[in-house]
Amino acid sequence: MTETHENNFLFNTWYFIGTSSEIHLGKMKRKVIAGQPLVVGRRKNGSIFALRDTCPHRAAPFSKGCIIKNTVECPYHGWRFDVDSGICKTIPSLTSDQNLKIERISVPTYITKEQDNLIWVYLANNRSTNKPRIQPYRLPFSTKKAIIDYSCILECNIDHAVIGLIDPAHGPYVHQQWWWRSPKKIKDKIKYFEPYLLGFTMKPHSPSSNSFAYKLLGGNPVTEIIFQIPGFRTEEIKIGKKTLLSITIVTPINANKTEIRQIFFTNLRIIKILSPILQMFTKKFIQQDANIIKLQQMGLAYNPKMMLIDDANTQAKWYYAIKKEWNDCNELGRKFKNPVKATTLKWRT
Ligand code: FES
Ligand SMILES: [Fe+2]
Repeated sequence: MTETHENNFLFNTWYFIGTSSEIHLGKMKRKVIAGQPLVVGRRKNGSIFALRDTCPHRAAPFSKGCIIKNTVECPYHGWRFDVDSGICKTIPSLTSDQNLKIERISVPTYITKEQDNLIWVYLANNRSTNKPRIQPYRLPFSTKKAIIDYSCILECNIDHAVIGLIDPAHGPYVHQQWWWRSPKKIKDKIKYFEPYLLGFTMKPHSPSSNSFAYKLLGGNPVTEIIFQIPGFRTEEIKIGKKTLLSITIVTPINANKTEIRQIFFTNLRIIKILSPILQMFTKKFIQQDANIIKLQQMGLAYNPKMMLIDDANTQAKWYYAIKKEWNDCNELGRKFKNPVKATTLKWRT
């Protein structure tokens, strides 16, 4: 078993770095993803690059250095590395008669993609097969700016973060509040699911009639929820030609820390006006999840066996099955076969 499997991290997949506005021209940002320290920077010409954020000399982080032409300069002794190839270009301390082969020194580079104002990095399992097998997520409509953007750290492994994200039954307990749910208003739910790319979709339906928050939207909203590995959930609420798009991304930092990021995009005027309130609700909502996950660690610390029941935890079972299939098909170099079968799931929430 490789280290990657032990930590439950997925490779040969795209991870979310952040929105375009977070990385300014000529600036760099450090980001640890799946146990790998990365530096993501923007060249003067506007394009994005990513390298391992550890200098091969004495391990200082490039992210605290600077970008000079097409290289990053380490803040410790000024070694410079090409941002495309990762190859060492300069070692300032070398005298003219010392012939160290600096082109043999290099730092790993990563493929990045910037589209729809979102930045992605591709983490391959094996550098020799660094060619992406899939493309990162595209927004369904063109919008420039997120109206809400909130992130926090969940103190758990990526698997618990994802299962929490797609768990339909905790709402009335964890998110008990007048504008969302209460155990007294719990109702039967029947939802139809289908396989979708590297995940599954809950086909378009009218959102929960027992949620005050949805009532605010007015009209006749229809929502479609999609989940995809490594940890990506979108909810697209459509009212006529207008859309409110909620994107939730969980990204593993290390074995016990996961970042959750909640972003909303919309072309609905009413939501833009209400965005300060929505920002407050979002923060509260995510912190409720972060708190229950923290409590859950009290049990997880003793490594218990856990139960996944039908149908409330069927999505969690699918998540594990999809991950396994992704690892298997990558290892064997064959096509991905989505293990999810179209079905109806029932639960009360
Ligand atoms: S640690 Fe980077 S140049 Fe020495
Ligand atoms: Fe939640």
